[in-house]
Amino acid sequence: MKARKVTTKISMLGAVDWNRTLFDALIPLPQGTSYNAYLVNGSQKTALLDASDPSLQDQLMEQLDSVPRVDFVIAHHAEQDHSGALPLVMAKYPQARLICSQKASGMLQDLLDLPADRIQTVADGETLALGDLTLEFIYTPWVHWPETMCTYLREEKTLFSCDFFGSHLATSEVFAGDELAVYPSAKRYYAEIMMPFRVPIQKNLERLAALEIERICPSHGPVFEKPLWIVDAYREWVSAPPKNEVVIPYISMHHSTEMLVKRMVGTLAERGVRVKVFDLTITDIGELAMALVDAATIVVGTPIMLGGPHPLVGYAISLAALLKPKAKFAAFLVSYGWGAGAVKRLPGLIEGLKVEALPAVVARGLPRQAELDAVDALAEQIAAKHRELELK
Ligand code: FEO
Repeated sequence: MKARKVTTKISMLGAVDWNRTLFDALIPLPQGTSYNAYLVNGSQKTALLDASDPSLQDQLMEQLDSVPRVDFVIAHHAEQDHSGALPLVMAKYPQARLICSQKASGMLQDLLDLPADRIQTVADGETLALGDLTLEFIYTPWVHWPETMCTYLREEKTLFSCDFFGSHLATSEVFAGDELAVYPSAKRYYAEIMMPFRVPIQKNLERLAALEIERICPSHGPVFEKPLWIVDAYREWVSAPPKNEVVIPYISMHHSTEMLVKRMVGTLAERGVRVKVFDLTITDIGELAMALVDAATIVVGTPIMLGGPHPLVGYAISLAALLKPKAKFAAFLVSYGWGAGAVKRLPGLIEGLKVEALPAVVARGLPRQAELDAVDALAEQIAAKHRELELK
């Protein structure tokens, strides 16, 4: 794809990766992604903001064939999906300075072997003049790494946000347009990449609130020409209380755990609690992450297998703990065959979630009426806790 116009002064370069299915060798990308770079043409100087993933760097270099001079290359973030093509870019423009935050300088040298004498660090709030245009650099640590910064193009009221406000969405469109179409990709991106950094994101949102922003140009997914909705969505995802929702990831090998799960779903639904159920043998882990953005309670269903929870359940719990969701309560629904010793170790598995552990319901083999009654009692306890917190 050729360079595409955002405004008369700004072009979108980089690559749309229609075929990428995993990020960080972990995170599913059902709609692909993009690695956006932006060219900003001032009256005296030209700046290239970010580069691309090395796997598609040829596309960026082809787009730069028609760009005779770049004075500044801005690296917002050292992660290779944005910085990987920088060695080629810096070789093409030997007069260019590589501009980055102080922390990013060492990381770019470590990760890409970029020479220190090509790098010029900028402080938080520092500006760079391109003639009639001014770039203002804003440190935004932990969206996504500690060295991350954004650039605000003052005269165009444009924020170049890199990972912040990104969407893993391969599209031929420059602009987000239909909010409903982009929202799921933006939420998935938040859930998979940004959720662990809720606290720094809150601070960074406060920082950006002082700016008049007419458009946001992220480095993944389309440009937001009506930026308010994505900023408001982030405010809700990071700051709003959890919702009156329960997420139930589970495995069932011989339907006993499934019986407990189905009973829990029915009883919670009768009490007005929304439930999202994920059979971990077929679940897109990104969908589970999206559900964790909002859920107040996590109920894990597992059989005991070889002295512990099913391995897929262990994986889902450890991933959820890494994502640091807002959930306040958690419980287990368990079926075991011949030894209940492993059940005692289950609460230790959810310590990383920082939740209040509710009593587990444990069935030896097939659940009987006593266990089904215990599920009803647990569901009522969950519903009561949600009511106490006035969750919507
Ligand atoms: Fe899109 Fe943190 O890289």
